[in-house]
Amino acid sequence: MFMPVGTQGTVKGMSKGTVKGMTSQQLEELDCHVILGNTYHLESRPGSDLVAELGGLHDFISWPRAMLTDSGGFQMVSLLHLAEITEAGVEFQSPVDGARLLLTPEQSMGIQNRLGADIMMALDDVVSSVSTSAERFEEATHRTTRWIDRCIAAHTRPAEQNLFGIIQGGLDERLRAISIEDLVARQLPGYAIGGLAGGEDKDSFWRMVSFCTARLPADKPRYVMGIGYPMDVVICSALGADMYDSVYPTRTARFGVALVPDGVLKLKTAACANDFRPIDDTCSCMTCQRYTRAFLQGLVARDLPFAAHLVTYHNIAYMQRLGRDMRAAIAEQRFPAFVRGFVHQHHPEGD
Ligand code: GUN
Ligand code: ZN
Repeated sequence: MFMPVGTQGTVKGMSKGTVKGMTSQQLEELDCHVILGNTYHLESRPGSDLVAELGGLHDFISWPRAMLTDSGGFQMVSLLHLAEITEAGVEFQSPVDGARLLLTPEQSMGIQNRLGADIMMALDDVVSSVSTSAERFEEATHRTTRWIDRCIAAHTRPAEQNLFGIIQGGLDERLRAISIEDLVARQLPGYAIGGLAGGEDKDSFWRMVSFCTARLPADKPRYVMGIGYPMDVVICSALGADMYDSVYPTRTARFGVALVPDGVLKLKTAACANDFRPIDDTCSCMTCQRYTRAFLQGLVARDLPFAAHLVTYHNIAYMQRLGRDMRAAIAEQRFPAFVRGFVHQHHPEGD
């Protein structure tokens, strides 16, 4: 399952409400069942108190299906580089007014309880998988366990909202094993694999995902955070993961890049100007049913928001279809052939 990011986690996109230009009706027709909301972003505006007063996040953004909120610290640490982590929580400077703010596990749970998403993520001590010392990874692993206990204690609505734990430990199998053992002992409704997709090489990334999925309970969702390249989604699924989220499909759409069965189609290229085929003639989405590459090329070249809208629509349709195709292949016990076919389509020159 791929979950589009509903509220952009970047400062730049911060005021932009929902998935860039997509209505909740469109996300429903695209067969999305879970979308992501960002805790910090929503807390800074309009604020979880107001959202709670208005009946919760689902009502606020008019989304009748499921939602997941991240705990808030990760965005500060990895996107803003403004954060300092102490035992108390994630301390950061407000990108809005420069004030020093502290996000504790208790506060993250409070905010997420008020927002009311179906899945909420624990506040974790996340360090970049590259450029950090062994001691720092050791500290982050154990602190994430201490924080999960504070999250569990602070969670006021366990019957309505599912708290997922996040495995940390960098690229160290010993630390990952400790993190898994600690979190699995808490018997949470689902587990995420965090601290990846941060610039480590693919080989280490896949080894870590495989190491974690092999040790996490098979009857609980296993969610690899921040993953959205179609190839990574397919490989991670082959390694046993179930859930993904990333801004990639929607962000790349805004640059006029469409996801297609053999990779990507850059609509900016001059060749598209007199190409009257759809983005993907095997795609049944509204964009592909109605618009040609030539038409889209003209919009993209003029940087019109309508271009971003139509390509975003297609890219979400692509990710949803990929999920459906993988689920069908798994159910029909032909997933290994599906993965080989997918990889071959992307790399026809390889074997
Ligand atoms: N998003 C991508 N990676 C992570 C992570 O390690 N922790 C959290 N909380 N969010 C993420
Ligand atoms: Zn399409």
